[in-house]
Amino acid sequence: MSFEDLKNQYSICTKCLELCTSRTQVVFGSGKKDSKILLIGEAPGANEDKQGIPFCGMSGEILNQLLASNKLSREDLFITNTILCRPKDNRQPAKNEVENCRERLDQLINIMQPKVIVTIGNFATERILNKTGIKSIRGKIFEININNQNIKVVPVIHPASYLYSGRNPEMLQQMQKDFSVVSQIVAEKKTQKSLGEYNNINP
Ligand code: URA
Repeated sequence: MSFEDLKNQYSICTKCLELCTSRTQVVFGSGKKDSKILLIGEAPGANEDKQGIPFCGMSGEILNQLLASNKLSREDLFITNTILCRPKDNRQPAKNEVENCRERLDQLINIMQPKVIVTIGNFATERILNKTGIKSIRGKIFEININNQNIKVVPVIHPASYLYSGRNPEMLQQMQKDFSVVSQIVAEKKTQKSLGEYNNINP
């Protein structure tokens, strides 16, 4: 299946009845579809639902800053979410909604074969790594194997947490550091060992 086939297939998805009524459109993702960097957030919010682009609101502004501080830009990567449709009143995605979107995300990863996946926040991290507690695993490098392909995974704090913190400057510094791990992987400047903890896991 091609990237376009997958996108077309999910543009009319009706697996989640509630989300079909709360969404304006399916927000499949944006950026470079053949990028080696895949960012995964939680779910589209009100702005994303309106514009059809992930992370185009306040969280997106912070994300853009974090990328820019590490000489990365939105055009270098592809961004999607754990689920593709906006939940009503910005509630968290339900378990069955994450499950209904599981095959789509697996297929996207298969098609893109990214070198690194950045999981933004707890939802995406749990979905990809089966791990919770983002604060203790942020900025570490994990590895998953999909179709005999090793993919590095770096969990990062969700920009919304930073906004909820009242823009805590220490938190922003940590987040910038975590994104520097991503840019180092992309540039392949550091060895796996020097990057710290390295886990082989099967999600
Ligand atoms: N938060 C997310 O997790 N995803 C978006 O697309 C926007 C905000």
